Amino acid sequence: MTADAAERIAELRRVIQYHAHRYYALDDPEISDAEYDALIHELRELEAQHPELVTPDSPTQRVGAEPLPEFNRVEHPVPMTSLADAFDEDAVREWLARVRRLLGDDTPLQFVAEPKVDGLAVALTYENGVLVRGATRGDGRVGEDITANVRTIRNVPLRIPVDPGESLETPERIEVRGEIYMPRDLFDQLNEERVEEGHEPFANPRNAAAGSVRQLDSRVTARRPLRLYAYAVGYVEGHRLATQWDSLAYLSALGLAVNSDIHLFDDIDQVLDYCQEWMDDREGLNYEADGVVIKINDLALQERLGVVGNSPRWAVAFKFPARESTTRLQSIEVNVGRTGVLTPYAVLEPVRLGGVEIRQASLHNFEDLLRKDIREGDIVVVRRAGDVIPQVLKPVEELRSGDEQAPSIPTTCPSCGEPVSQEPDVVAVYCDNAQCPAQRIRRIEHWASRGALDVEGLGIRVTHMFVDAGLVRDVADLYALTKEQLVALEGFQEKRAQNLLRALDASRERPLWRVITGLGIRGVGSQVAQILANHYHSLNALIKAGADDLVEIEGIGPIIADSIVAFFEQPHNREMIERLGERGVRLAEEAPIQEPVEKPLDGLTFVITGTLPSMTRDEAASLIESHGGRVTGSVSGNTDYVLVGEKPGASKTRQAKKLDVPTLDEDGLMALLEGQANP
Ligand code: IVH
Repeated sequence: MTADAAERIAELRRVIQYHAHRYYALDDPEISDAEYDALIHELRELEAQHPELVTPDSPTQRVGAEPLPEFNRVEHPVPMTSLADAFDEDAVREWLARVRRLLGDDTPLQFVAEPKVDGLAVALTYENGVLVRGATRGDGRVGEDITANVRTIRNVPLRIPVDPGESLETPERIEVRGEIYMPRDLFDQLNEERVEEGHEPFANPRNAAAGSVRQLDSRVTARRPLRLYAYAVGYVEGHRLATQWDSLAYLSALGLAVNSDIHLFDDIDQVLDYCQEWMDDREGLNYEADGVVIKINDLALQERLGVVGNSPRWAVAFKFPARESTTRLQSIEVNVGRTGVLTPYAVLEPVRLGGVEIRQASLHNFEDLLRKDIREGDIVVVRRAGDVIPQVLKPVEELRSGDEQAPSIPTTCPSCGEPVSQEPDVVAVYCDNAQCPAQRIRRIEHWASRGALDVEGLGIRVTHMFVDAGLVRDVADLYALTKEQLVALEGFQEKRAQNLLRALDASRERPLWRVITGLGIRGVGSQVAQILANHYHSLNALIKAGADDLVEIEGIGPIIADSIVAFFEQPHNREMIERLGERGVRLAEEAPIQEPVEKPLDGLTFVITGTLPSMTRDEAASLIESHGGRVTGSVSGNTDYVLVGEKPGASKTRQAKKLDVPTLDEDGLMALLEGQANP
C-alpha cells in the first residue's frame, strides 16, 4: 500500500512540478487552474495519510514553515559582487575601452544585455538536483539563510531538472544566482488587497519583494506573489559552461525562469540601442528595471578581466534615470474642481525625476494624505512613473525636525471661503458654493472642452483671464463678449479676438447633447447627455422633468436623476440657461438625432481603464456601444483602442504598450465618434 502511495506521490510531484513550470516560468499552461488544483489536492491527501513520505521538495511544501527566531548566516563560496554603474553612453564606451586595454588585443567581443530587475539578489544551491539552500547577498561574503522563504516562491524549482524530458544530467552541485522580484500586476493586486484589509500598501515592487523575502515567518512569504529570474551560475560541479549565454540556456533547460528580454549582441552600438529602447519602454515591462546589465559573454575572458574592489571588470550596469527621489514638501495646496471637489496637491522643492524637473505632485485625496501622515516641511519620497502625474509616496519620518506641520482637512473653500461639506465615510470634500470663482473657471473650461461645446482657443488660461477681468461669470457671458472687450486684454490682438469670437459663434449650433454635457451636471457625461437629448429634444423639456420621470428612462439611475433635478432647481442655473437661449445658443433640436447608418465605431474593440474626466466607465462603454463599437475587459491582439483615464490599471497600460495598441483619452474618443479617423 505504502509502495503504491509512494509511487503515486512521486508521479504527482513530477506532473505538478512540470505544470507549475509551464505556468509560472514559461507563462504557457497546458492544463486549467482547476485541474492543477485537483492534482495538488490529491497529493496533499496522500501526504496526509503518509506523513513519512513528505519531503522538503514536495510542491505542497510551498506554504511556508514555522517562524524562525532569526536568520542563520551563510558564507558564499563565491562572493556575490556588486556592479559598477554607468549613467550614460559615454560611460559604457569608457568601460569597453578599459576592457579592451586589459585584454590587450582586438578579439571580437560579444555582449549579453540583461534588464537589471529591481528586486533582491539571491543565491540558490541545488545538491543532486534538490534545492537545499537559498541565501541573500548580505554584504557579498556572508548572507542570510532564507531557504524556507525561497521554497515558497512558485517559480523556484524545488528539484532540477524540472522536465526529465530534457534528458539533462543532474549537476552534482550548482549555485544559481538571480533576482527575486514582484511582477507589477501582482504588486498592484497585492496593494489593493492590503488597502482593503487596512494595511499600509507597499511603496514599490522592490520594497514589497525585499520585505517579503526577509520574513522570519515563511507562511507570510508564501502569500506574497514573488518570482525569480535566474541570471547567472555562481558555480557548477558536473557541467561545463563556456559563455554567459550558455549559462542562461543551461539554467533555462534546468527549469529555472530566465528573463526572455535578455539579448546577445556582437557590437556595443546594438547594446546601446537596446539600453535606449528599454529605457523608453520601461513602463511596458511587467517588472521594475532600473537599468541594463551588460556582460562580456565569454566566461574565460570574464576570468581574465577579474574583479576589482567589489565589482567585476567584465560587467557594467547602465542605469536608467531614477524615478523615485526625495525632496522637501514646501506646502500642501488645495485645488477646486468643476463640481466643487477639493483635492490636495504638494508644492515641492524642485527635483529632477526621470529626466524632468518636478515642482508639484499629486496627493490624491485628504484621506490618503492623513493616513500617510504627510506634513508640510517633510522630506518626502516622490515618484514618477512614465507619463503619469508625479506622486508623493510617503514622508521620511526619520528626517523630521519636529517643525513639520500636519495638514488638516479644510473647513472652507480656498477659492471662495465658503464652508465645505464632507459626507461621512466619503473621501471627497466639496465646496457647494456655485458662485465659487475656482469652480466657475473649471465649469467654463469644461463647457469649452472638446467633449462638450468644443470652443477652440478657449483654454484654462484664457478662461482665467476672463473671470479675473470680470468679463465672464458663467458660460452664458461668453456669448456676450465683444471684440472691443477682447482686444483690451493682454495678448489679444485683433486676429486672435476674431478667431475666438468665430469659435464661440460656431459653438452656438452644436447638438443638444453637447450643451447638456457642457452644463457640467454632476454624473452627467456625454453618454447620459445623449440619452437625455434623445428623450427630451430640448433643454426646456428637460428642465421640467421630475426625478420620477427621469428614472423611467433607461440608463438614468436615481442618483443622476436627483443630481439633474437639483441642478435645474437652482435659480441661477435656470437664469443662465435663459441667457444662453437669448444669446443664440441652440437649446433644442427639431427631431431626434437619427442613428447614423454607418456607425463610426463599427467593428472596433475597446478596453477602458482609469477614471475618465466626464463620464463613468459604464457611460463610456454604452457610448462606444451605441456607436457600433465593442468593449472588452482585457487588452489583446484584437483590441483596437485602449481608452485611458486617470490612474489607469498598470497591467492594461502595459499590455497596450506591449501589443502596440493605440491609446485614446476621452477627447480622442470624442474625435473618433465624430468620425475623425486619427484622433
Ligand atoms: S549580475 C557580477 N545580472 O544588480 C555581477 N545582476 O549590483 C553580479 N541584478 O542586486 C550581478 N539583474 O541582483 C546581474 N541580470 C542581472 C541582474 C543583476 C539585477 C542586481 C543584482 C544585484 C545588483 C548588482
